[in-house]
Amino acid sequence: MKINRCHSLRGELTVPGDKSISHRSIMLGALAQGDTKVSGFLQGADCLSSIACFRSMGVDIENHKDTVIIHGHGLHSLRAPEKVLDTGNSGTTTRLISGILSAQPFTSILNGDASIQKRPMKRIITPLSQMGAKIESLNHNDCAPLRITGAPLHGITYHSPVASAQVKSAVLLAGLYADGTTTVVEPQLSRNHSELMLKAFGASVSDTAVLSDGRASVTITPACQLYAQDIQVPGDISSAAYFLAAGLITPNSEITVKNVGINPTRDGLLKVINAMGGSIDIENQRTSGGELFADLTVRTSSLHSTVIGGAIIPTLIDELPVIAVIACFAKGTTIIKDAQELKVKESNRIDVMAKNLSLMGADITPTDDGLIIHGGKPLHGAVIDSFKDHRVAMSMTVAAMNSEGETTIIDDECTSISYPGFFEDMHRLAH
Ligand code: S3P
Repeated sequence: MKINRCHSLRGELTVPGDKSISHRSIMLGALAQGDTKVSGFLQGADCLSSIACFRSMGVDIENHKDTVIIHGHGLHSLRAPEKVLDTGNSGTTTRLISGILSAQPFTSILNGDASIQKRPMKRIITPLSQMGAKIESLNHNDCAPLRITGAPLHGITYHSPVASAQVKSAVLLAGLYADGTTTVVEPQLSRNHSELMLKAFGASVSDTAVLSDGRASVTITPACQLYAQDIQVPGDISSAAYFLAAGLITPNSEITVKNVGINPTRDGLLKVINAMGGSIDIENQRTSGGELFADLTVRTSSLHSTVIGGAIIPTLIDELPVIAVIACFAKGTTIIKDAQELKVKESNRIDVMAKNLSLMGADITPTDDGLIIHGGKPLHGAVIDSFKDHRVAMSMTVAAMNSEGETTIIDDECTSISYPGFFEDMHRLAH
């Protein structure tokens, strides 16, 4: 994809559905009794991987694009897949489904693409093995492919070393089938979509307790049955982020992104925009299925630097690449710290963002747990490798739109992982 400077962005859009909520709607719909109807489902490659995995286990899922209908037959209705379950590029599918497979009366093998085969799975193998499942990394490197032999599971209390919603969700989903309560304690609160949706489907999940040291604890009681629901998926704030960023840093701009999910465990970007002096309005707040929705309007702003670290990190982890881009256009030195998890995403996002933005002329230094960005240096076009990471490709597009000369983004089609139609939507708003 070739990108040139953009002089103004104006208009309104809705972005595709939230990726985390879309995955969970398929998983809980497949385990519930009855027909779950999902509107606003994200038709991105990652969520289609979740659909394919559950279809391979005998679940009838109708995908009508605007609506997905999952014909669930209850917690114990999955059938042994005949072939390897292909999770594609999706860490969420791989980790969450592992929790479910751990409790099934069959053995299954999970595998995905080259990126998935490098992503750490020990973080789920450890707690799920403690619950009684047998999980082998077939290449003995704690990565996929994984062979999962389900077993009757025991309830545990698991102290996760990382604030990861994928780990928490895998353990909670396994906990649905355990012989007693299961508690997950994480160092900071990560996104809580699983907890909210489990409750909506009738599972008994405690309210999250945030302890005085910031740790967050949640408990699930095993379920006899989940009940099908109608789910409205909000627009993904992680996808809206590219438009909010572009609207803030591109001259003469005003953009409204409608119907965005602003769950407080996901809204760190909005706080950072405020802290950097960005102009943002949050309007029409409403709730559905426990999730908070709003319309967000940004306009061109004169931004200044900030420091981002600690408990806010899990609430904006996927937005950090585009926040690094925003920081290049802010006055002063922005520091991103406590974000070592960025190294184990679809690419090493600390190294990749530092390398790519440096190529365009930014003053950016990678650290062990984040980035230091001295803003204000003008950027210029370059040939940029996305490293097949959707969030890198979209973040670098925002940078390219505000750079002198032409930028080429290699492997831009990876944007379809979370945002099919990204370039068309951006192009439509550009003047
Ligand atoms: C996700 C959780 C986050 C996030 C990922 C989606 C989820 O990962 O980065 O894109 O849907 O639970 P971690 O749980 O590894 O932090």
